[in-house]
Amino acid sequence: MVDYEVTVYTGDRVNATTLNGVHIKLVGTDAESERTWLRTLVIFRGSVSTYTVSCPNSLGQLVLIELDKRQFFLLPDDAWFPDQVEIKSPEQDRYIFPIHCWISDRETHRFREGKALRIFDESNSLGQYAREQELSQRSTDYDWDLYYPGVPYTIKADGPLSLPDEVQFSFTKTTEFAFTAATGLAELQLKGLVDNKENWQNLDNINYVFRNKDTPLSDYIQEHWKEDGLFAYQFLNGVNPTLIRCCKTLPKNFPVTDDMVFIPDGSSLSKELKEGNIYLCDYKNLDGMPANTIQGMQQYLMAPLVLLHKRPDDKLMPIAIQLKQTPAEDNPIFLPTDSTYDWLTAKIFVRSADFTEHQLNAHLLRTHLLAEVFAVSLLRNLPMVHPLYKLLIPHTRYTLQINELARKQLIGPTGVFTLFAASGGEALTMILAKLLSSITFRSLCIPDDIVDRDLHGVPNFYYRDDGLHLWNIMFKYVQGVIQYYYKSDDEIQQDSELQTWIRDIFEHGFLSQPQTGIPQSFTTVPELIKFATMVMFTSSCQHAAVNSGQYDYGGWMPNTPATLQRPPPTEKGTTSEATMLATLPPINVTVQGMATVWLLSRQSSDFVPLGHYPEAHYTEETPRQLQIDFKAELDMLSIAIGNRNQGLEIPYTYLDPKKVENSVAI
Ligand code: FE2
Repeated sequence: MVDYEVTVYTGDRVNATTLNGVHIKLVGTDAESERTWLRTLVIFRGSVSTYTVSCPNSLGQLVLIELDKRQFFLLPDDAWFPDQVEIKSPEQDRYIFPIHCWISDRETHRFREGKALRIFDESNSLGQYAREQELSQRSTDYDWDLYYPGVPYTIKADGPLSLPDEVQFSFTKTTEFAFTAATGLAELQLKGLVDNKENWQNLDNINYVFRNKDTPLSDYIQEHWKEDGLFAYQFLNGVNPTLIRCCKTLPKNFPVTDDMVFIPDGSSLSKELKEGNIYLCDYKNLDGMPANTIQGMQQYLMAPLVLLHKRPDDKLMPIAIQLKQTPAEDNPIFLPTDSTYDWLTAKIFVRSADFTEHQLNAHLLRTHLLAEVFAVSLLRNLPMVHPLYKLLIPHTRYTLQINELARKQLIGPTGVFTLFAASGGEALTMILAKLLSSITFRSLCIPDDIVDRDLHGVPNFYYRDDGLHLWNIMFKYVQGVIQYYYKSDDEIQQDSELQTWIRDIFEHGFLSQPQTGIPQSFTTVPELIKFATMVMFTSSCQHAAVNSGQYDYGGWMPNTPATLQRPPPTEKGTTSEATMLATLPPINVTVQGMATVWLLSRQSSDFVPLGHYPEAHYTEETPRQLQIDFKAELDMLSIAIGNRNQGLEIPYTYLDPKKVENSVAI
């Protein structure tokens, strides 16, 4: 007889302990062991326990293990969360089997040895068989669903709780999320206001309910929201830094002239345009979209154009706003020299349009829905043993569940967004479909995006500075890992699983639209490196940039109204404080919005920061070292960002690696 020493590591998480009997079978190239009971009545969370599996002869090289569990008589059936199994063979070889998932049923679960294998590396027929079985099961567990024509496909599920265990929230996250959601209004002391459909009588009253504000920045926004400097700053470093672009020629439908705008130091608009000092934010995607009806009242959603000037003192300032796309007498171009309320009202309409553009385009579509597409395609097409699965799976954590929750509680028929946002309801899917066809691969890669928007010359643009640093650090890590596994373009072309993965993304995420520039297949190693970097960046950094500041910038409602209930002024000189207050959303709509952005800006206590890999999917030295180097570079960047922020009036923290979550999880 020969003995195999089997060490089982159970995850240290709530409910990971099992009172069930666990069985293991070792499968090698020459033979397999008996299905053997690990002789214990309880396997505790966080425990490391060693057992012996005896076999008549050596099994050869170990290929996989099979695990299953059975309920003991009179004891409850429960789920178990093993992290990994380590086996020492009689030949003194050490094998590691990464698991990191729940086992909650009575089925037999197969886990491959940790060394990453591409499909053409499979020399063992049992390994090949296990690989096919795994993918066949996964394509059933993770099926596509058509959410709405023209919009990316989603996971097919009957709500968050029907998702497979391995992609559900942890107990900690579920409890905290439910608690925060249920108590959000109460914690913000807004509870008595949810049924109050009256309009605000003055801004001081909003201040009264906002008193329990909990971020220094939301406080700052409340104080400065009317200022042109802060209005412009938000296009660079607020929650939506994705729209602004340099403007060398004015769009034909935005007829601003030299004599309309005041440019200091004797310069003119045409001269500043030529010199690259003029910037444009064009909300054309929102043109023609039907605005919602809220509590029986028609709402208003504009598609404005905003012109900004970079002054010699490096400050960006707004110089003209047109609220609708088609120039007309009743669509005046508002200027900073107009009356206080004309100009402020124009800016409020822009900020409200930005709420929609930000939430639907920058946030929902370009991070949440795309991250879901990447995750579903990964789970369907790449087995656990594939090197790219190991690279990307940590960046899919909780994404499917948070999106299922969002579809139910935010944009479902009775969701907060549907009930209380100008772009809720019918407009939402129309806008998403329009936006999807305008996504390009280049716009998802920050180095290309900054070039295409011609934003290298903008001063104080921290989203760009931190984002490019992060991209470069991430690119280096991804490059290291991919080049370790793929030595030539031929190997990329031969990897049929990789090709199915990208094809599925192209078809179900981008609806086979070739103008997006999303690859339909991979031909070279550099193509795969860039695409995988984009997937990782989108699911972590880009989401953090557009998610984490939601309460900072949106908590004080007048700075980011989710809807407006009066049409914009059609001539100058007709606005006042009273018209502004009548335009802003009523009290109950305001507090629902505040509670929602508050919930969505909360960090969970089981948050995993960027570059942390608590679940070791790689067992080989090279990728593990690359992960250590990746984290070390992120730590250095975090220090540099912290130092930079000390000198800033508004610290830019959203892309501090310490605060970026590994995945779209909120
Ligand atoms: Fe989010």
